[in-house]
Amino acid sequence: MTANQTTLKTLPADLHPDYLPNHVAVIMDGNGRWAKQKGLPRRAGHKQGVDTLKSLLRCCKDWGIGALTAYAFSTENWSRPLEEVEFLMTLFERVLRQELNELIQEQVQIRFVGNLTALPQSLQNEIHHSMEATRRNDGIKFTIAKNYGGRQEIVHACHQIAEQVKNGLLGLDEIDVQLFEQYLYTAGNCDPDLLIRTSGEMRLSNFLLWQTAYAELYVTDTLWPDFDRAEFHQALQTYQQRDRRFGGLKSDTV
Ligand code: FPP
Repeated sequence: MTANQTTLKTLPADLHPDYLPNHVAVIMDGNGRWAKQKGLPRRAGHKQGVDTLKSLLRCCKDWGIGALTAYAFSTENWSRPLEEVEFLMTLFERVLRQELNELIQEQVQIRFVGNLTALPQSLQNEIHHSMEATRRNDGIKFTIAKNYGGRQEIVHACHQIAEQVKNGLLGLDEIDVQLFEQYLYTAGNCDPDLLIRTSGEMRLSNFLLWQTAYAELYVTDTLWPDFDRAEFHQALQTYQQRDRRFGGLKSDTV
């Protein structure tokens, strides 16, 4: 930690604790570019990306944010070179195994969302073990989107609902927003209030398409491995300046 980082151990004084996002979601982009800038292999960027994610999780915990969701691998990421895909799968598995005890001690509740059945069996085992081992924890909810695609999630929910209707277990008039949400991978999670994307790209890339309907978007040019507490502080400052209307009117016009 740098001196500046140490001073950010507790919630910065200019942030109002009552207006923090309850749930922050992150698109961790820029690992490859970070590595390239330093003349390192892409793998080094991903490794540093893991450390950044661990630091952000701890920062959310220190600052009183209830939930963090990270986009770790999309359904489209399979199209990367096999060597990189294999490296990422091995990295996730190793990190999960190494970090689990500390996460349990810190009361973190881990959840994975996505099509998990397509992942290597050993990783699936580690994922299920980590979810089970932290199920009763009452600290921050940490959700990792793995082999996740927002469109695929919505289609998956439609299939399940259609199946229920076909079998006479659900009536058409029972299908509404609340019911639909129960069939998403994220069922039971509150929606993200703030979505952060690093490395300057202005798109959602198939991440939480349903859940981010009213999320505030924050895009920074900073590459993911460099996204530290000071950067997160800036994102939260911006968030606290936003007027969240959820389709209504500005608070000073009513
Ligand atoms: C984007 O960078 C990042 C990813 C594809 C995901 C990798 C995420 C991590 C390594 C952190 C999560 C780790 C765990 C254990 C949950 P990029 O490769 O797209 O960067 P580029 O756009 O600069 O090429």
